[in-house]
Amino acid sequence: MSTLTEVRIAAVGDIHLGEDVRGEYRKRLEGIEERADVLMLAGDLTRHGTLEEGRVVADELRDLPIPVVAVLGNHDYHSDLQHEIAGELRDAGVMVLDDDGVVVECGGTKLGVVGGKGFGGGFAGKCASEFGEREIKDFVAHTRYIAESWKMALKETQADRRVVLSHYSPIKETLEGEPLEIYPFLGSYLLAEAVDTAGADLILHGHAHKGTEKGLTPGGIRVRNVALPVLGKAYAVYCLECGE
Ligand SMILES: [Fe+2]
Ligand SMILES: [Fe+2]
Repeated sequence: MSTLTEVRIAAVGDIHLGEDVRGEYRKRLEGIEERADVLMLAGDLTRHGTLEEGRVVADELRDLPIPVVAVLGNHDYHSDLQHEIAGELRDAGVMVLDDDGVVVECGGTKLGVVGGKGFGGGFAGKCASEFGEREIKDFVAHTRYIAESWKMALKETQADRRVVLSHYSPIKETLEGEPLEIYPFLGSYLLAEAVDTAGADLILHGHAHKGTEKGLTPGGIRVRNVALPVLGKAYAVYCLECGE
């Protein structure tokens, strides 16, 4: 006989912390262990990607009573200190994804989390293509490389349920509210195509502060834009049912 358990995923992106708000986000995480089994952070944790800001983020998340998985966002890359910021987060106990995956134990359920920052390029029919100047080809090839890495990581991840954690969006529906002109810089359909091929239960992203929370990939996978300004709260909680 099989029964169903529930995995509760707290998620937020774009917390954009700085030294002037030290200690404030931590207060908003109080009691999170009663509401969620894991916390996922969808990038843009800092404002300008400085090491000082990275350390503020690491301190806010240090030794939380539930596992924390994070990806970085474009702001966290701004000072070319992304590796150092990831290092500070890892020292604080945060699992930082870089186009790879981890498996987190959540009350007997193996939860696979795959992802990374992601990148742009636009959406089917309205996207950049690998044509013309070397710089444009490199731009699209970079997103394609990331999408391929996620597809492989999803295929290799042995877990009961799988979540993709990204900063950039895989679909345009969760960008609704943003100016159409900047869609190519907010995400890429190649990310959704990869996840639809490999399969997952949920995709979380941030980056689109003026976007919309809910959408679906063409393959029917739930997508949630968890950018803090979209949620209007410290984090949202999404449930996955898991057979045992
Ligand atoms: Fe942001
Ligand atoms: Fe961003």
